[in-house]
Amino acid sequence: MSKGDVIIDAQKIIKRYYIGHPNELEILHGIDLQVREGEFVAIVGASGSGKSTLMNIIGVLDKPTEGSYMLDGVDVMKAKDHELSAIRNKKIGFVFQTYNLISRTSALKNVELPMMYAGVPGGKRRKRAKELIEMVGMGERMHHTPDELSGGQKQRIAIARAMGNDPALILADEPTGALDSKTGRRVMDIFHDLHEKQGKTIVLITHSPELAEECERILTLSDGMFIGERRGTGYAPS
Ligand SMILES: Nc1ncnc2c1ncn2[C@@H]1O[C@H](COP(=O)(O)OP(=O)(O)O)[C@@H](O)[C@H]1O
Ligand SMILES: [Mg+2]
Repeated sequence: MSKGDVIIDAQKIIKRYYIGHPNELEILHGIDLQVREGEFVAIVGASGSGKSTLMNIIGVLDKPTEGSYMLDGVDVMKAKDHELSAIRNKKIGFVFQTYNLISRTSALKNVELPMMYAGVPGGKRRKRAKELIEMVGMGERMHHTPDELSGGQKQRIAIARAMGNDPALILADEPTGALDSKTGRRVMDIFHDLHEKQGKTIVLITHSPELAEECERILTLSDGMFIGERRGTGYAPS
């Protein structure tokens, strides 16, 4: 994979939930999405429009009912479960609105976990975890547990954790949704940094029109379909 290659190639994605025969609920109605290596894309849309459903499919946490999906050259529809777990662990870094850190476990250990699952030896993974925690400006708090951290601090730790296995792709589902605007700004600056300095591909779901505008491309989802696509106006670090 090199910069400019298509990393996400999803075609005619349909997602239906079966809520008891004969009722079926179609949430995504045939989504096409292509994202190139190194792009920073925002997905916006009203609550309930299907953003998280789509993100879970892109992140291989869930499978589409119909359609085709190639992720970094791998045919997700044909891949076996253990192959999909490996893809999730190595290629994708997830960041969620609710942080999803493990409580009563230090920030450092939280960041180490995905590397541990990937089989990175103890010393090496501790060193990398510390570097990543420094990168997000949380060096002084690495031995604290999540309940001793503010929302913004938790999210910075969650970003460090997402970077552990050096994923090509970062998927962030409303990562600033629970943060005040100043803290959200700081978190967004970290994403820009990862994009600009490390060339990470980022797909960001956001409710904030200002933050979406800073991305290279903005896709608008409405009732399970993309209804618009445009360029963002850009990012000027303060
Ligand atoms: N497991 C499920 N079963 C049935 N409906 C679901 C399920 N998960 C999500 N939905 C429905 O899918 C729609 C889109 O949800 P979601 O993707 O979470 O939207 P968004 O992230 O844009 O707010 C909503 O109407 C939601 O109720
Ligand atoms: Mg959502």
